[in-house]
Formats: sequence, structure tokens, C-alpha cells
Amino acid sequence: HMYQKGVKHLCENGLTQVPNKYILPKPERPGIFVDDGCINLPVIDFTQLQGADRLRVLASLSKACQEFGFFQLINHGIGDEVTRKMIDVSKEFFELPFEDRQRYMSSDLHAPVRYGTSFNQNNDKVFCWRDFLKLSCHPLQDYSSFWPSSPLDLREAMGEYSKKTQNLYERVMEAILESLGVTNETAIFEQGNQLMMVNWYPACPQPQLTLGLPPHSDYGLLTLLLQDQVEGLQIQHNGKWVTVKPIPNSFVVNIGDQFEIFSNGRYKSVVHRATVNSMKSRLSVASLHSLNAYHNVTPSPILIDDLNPRLYRDTSYADFLDFLSSSDFKCKRFLESRKL
Ligand code: SIN
Ligand code: FE2
Repeated sequence: HMYQKGVKHLCENGLTQVPNKYILPKPERPGIFVDDGCINLPVIDFTQLQGADRLRVLASLSKACQEFGFFQLINHGIGDEVTRKMIDVSKEFFELPFEDRQRYMSSDLHAPVRYGTSFNQNNDKVFCWRDFLKLSCHPLQDYSSFWPSSPLDLREAMGEYSKKTQNLYERVMEAILESLGVTNETAIFEQGNQLMMVNWYPACPQPQLTLGLPPHSDYGLLTLLLQDQVEGLQIQHNGKWVTVKPIPNSFVVNIGDQFEIFSNGRYKSVVHRATVNSMKSRLSVASLHSLNAYHNVTPSPILIDDLNPRLYRDTSYADFLDFLSSSDFKCKRFLESRKL
């Protein structure tokens, strides 16, 4: 069906209404966007983290991960030209003729490169207003030859970007572990997976009826999100949906399910979603960092004591896949299913 070709394709002939396939049941709709629903996430200055103020910044980092599960990272050291090229080449990819993108469509969830639409286009009853390109990234030499060969500079720009974000991830993860008082378990995090999810949300004629991404938490350890300056990301905070205000040259960083388990519930994997916009198309790039598929995640023994009993069972990637294929997916969170 034409919906399987993606939102960009659907919009090409001009649309004044959202087709039924994308209209959410009333209680799940985002509603009218209210401007006072914005939030200033805690801001972590990466340069300060390297200096004399490290302990103070680690304390803010810890507070952010406990109260929001999210923070914005500024002065992160990845040059402007690297992130700008990443965004530009991504937009060029989504502007390619459909036939050029179609070659990368695959129903294999583990393909090293996958172009698609919605959240999971084979299962979703209601489709999401999103097209995506998903790339396996780490180690780069194993994967980049599978990546799209056009636009011509895609492999170089995305390769450079993914190397830089993997490196930044490792340093941010070191700081997060230090803020938890866990410093002897870094090796496992350095051998993990990196996936890059490039999201394209075309401008939508009726954004109050649909979503770019449904509410979810991220499965892995940590996500580094780059976005252009268009708003769209909303997180659950104190029982409300709040919009994250983009800060130029920053990353939005969030804790994933695996890390909530590892931290024995101390740091939170928070539910978030992407809304769409009637005026502007929006691009975001999520760099998703997780443990390798054959590593179980277990709560760190250092974080378990009489006052803090163990909260989660050992969890494998297979447990996650089982959960995804189970019928109560969306009604219940994966983390809930792993509670002791
Ligand atoms: C995501 O949740 O992976 C992306 C959200 C966004 O586009 O802001
Ligand atoms: Fe996410």
C-alpha cells in the first residue's frame, strides 16, 4: 500500500488532511500544542566537567538523571561543521527520489541499514508521521560499506559523526558512572552497540491528530539526540507532557532501560514522544548506545543494600525481543515486566 512508502512520499502531491491511517484514537492524540508546556531541561556543560568543577557538575548530572532522566549537553566538543554536515546529508537522503531510498527498505529488524516509515510498519495499526533511516555504526569498518552510497558524501559525513558521538558517549558514560559511585565497570560499556536512527518528520497538515513517534522509552543504556532547531520532542515529567526547547549546538541525552536496570532504579528511563508541526519539517538523529546482544544487564551490586533492595531481574536482549512480540506491548512498559 502507498502508506508503506513513507510520509514524505505521501506528502509529495500536497495534502490538506491527515489520512485515517495516521489518526490516533482520541485519548492518544497530542492535542493542541500549548506554548507554556515548555521545559528547561537541566544543562550540563561538558567542558566544566573536565575542569576544577567536576564534582559539582557530577552532582547536577546525578540530580538530572534521577529527576528527569534527561539533560542537555553543551560545549561537548563536537564541531559545528560535523553536526551541520550530518543534518544536511540526512535531509538530502530523504529528498532523494523514492526509488533510491526504497533499495534500503527491509523487514529484517537487524539489517545493518534500514529505511522505513512509522514506528514498526509491519505491526502498527495507526501509522506514525515519520520516515527513518537506521544504521548500525560501531565498529564503523564493519558497517559503513553497507550504508547508502548516495548522496555521495553520506558515508563520510555520517561516519565522521558516528565516530565522534561514540567517543563522546564513552566520556559521558564515564561521568555518569562516576556520579553513581560505580567506576570499576567501564569495560563492558566500551564494547557496546551503536545504532543511529535518523528521523524525518515532514510538515503535517493536522499535527494535533497524529504523532511522529508514539510514547516509548529507549531500550539501551544511553541516547544522544541531535535535532535541528524545530521543536517536537516531549518528555513525561510529573505526569505531564512537556516540550524540550532545542538549544543550538547541544545534545539531548537520556537514560535508557538497560541503564535504569544497571543503576537499580536510581537513574530513570523516561517515556518520551515526538510531535509534528504544521509549518516545518523536522529532523532528528538519535545515537542509541546499548550493551551487545549477548550481554545480560544486571543491577550493580554496589547499588544494592538494605535500604535499596534489588529492583530488577537479570535482563537479556532476548527478553526484550520477547516483550516486543508479546501482545501487551504499548499497554505495559518493558521495565515493568522486568521488576522483581
Ligand atoms: C527518539 O525518541 O528516538 C527521537 C525523538 C525525537 O525525534 O525528538
Ligand atoms: Fe526515543
